[in-house]
Amino acid sequence: MLNRRKFIALSAFGSLAATIGRRASAGHVAGFRKGPVVISTWDAGIQANRGAWEILGKGGRALDAVEAGVMVTEASQNCCVGLGANPDRDGFVTLDACIMDEFANCGSVAFLERIKHPVSVARRVMEKTPHVMLVGSGAQQFAIAEGFTLEEQKLSPSAQEAYDNWLKKSEYKPVINIENKGDHGPSAPVRFESGEWNHDTIGMVAMDIKGNLSGSCTTSGMGFKMRGRLGDSPIIGAGLFVDNEAGACTATGQGEDVIRVAGSHTVVELMRQGLSPEAACKKAVERIIRIKKEKAKDIQVAFLALNKKGEVGAFAIHKGFSYAIKAEGVEKLVAAKSIFS
Ligand code: GLY
Repeated sequence: MLNRRKFIALSAFGSLAATIGRRASAGHVAGFRKGPVVISTWDAGIQANRGAWEILGKGGRALDAVEAGVMVTEASQNCCVGLGANPDRDGFVTLDACIMDEFANCGSVAFLERIKHPVSVARRVMEKTPHVMLVGSGAQQFAIAEGFTLEEQKLSPSAQEAYDNWLKKSEYKPVINIENKGDHGPSAPVRFESGEWNHDTIGMVAMDIKGNLSGSCTTSGMGFKMRGRLGDSPIIGAGLFVDNEAGACTATGQGEDVIRVAGSHTVVELMRQGLSPEAACKKAVERIIRIKKEKAKDIQVAFLALNKKGEVGAFAIHKGFSYAIKAEGVEKLVAAKSIFS
């Protein structure tokens, strides 16, 4: 096991590699007991963490950091998060997000259209309503009342191209029981021909200078999904869970299977029982594999967790999931361990 000083030295080198080559480094990740730390899913997490660090690095609150961090990705016009993302099968971008703080306050929006920063609407739900979750037109109405701009209903050029391509075959078989049919169109995340998995969500958890934890999660969900479909990302306990005594976890991948095991809550409870973040994430992944049996080969799910000691860990079903870490003097992309390589 690396001691903390050695890890920071290695991480400074890792930072350079991450910045220049964006290649994930593999290996054990030690704790960050002495200061703030932020972790987030996939390579987009590097930029998102920088957004969070603007706040954490100045001694700010983890809640503000996790909102600001994922807003960077929401604004970035990528395939899977924010208004630039791929649409549902009817051609509309629908967004899901949630946020949770150190007091177990939480807010969530789902099936939200034409609003650039769903995570910020989720925070307003948390702070300005007696509720946890608003969906669809009600969430949009609330956002407008709160001063958010209703954006134009128009696909980004890359999403339009992806949608036009998808329409050529429209290979989506609407199913009531996904489990039995085993086919629900393009999965989230998508596996490239190279065998790598494309990211689908940004989930972020952070610890601030006071040792308080918060988290956020935001996505457009599965590309070309059935209209109205929600995954795990806006569901507290599935796509995100924070417990300021035990730790915080976020999930990415096939949302249906994260929901099935209340994934992020499960990981946090396992950390409470004394498991390291990586061991807790692995146990939750194994639980999904036990349920899915041979179908687990066709899905990707990954968990990313941070405990109260500042220790970080992740685990995925398949190789290819990476996560970004930022702490004082540290910036790196780490390749998570997985069941299947
Ligand atoms: N994990 C994102 C989704 O399934 O919607």
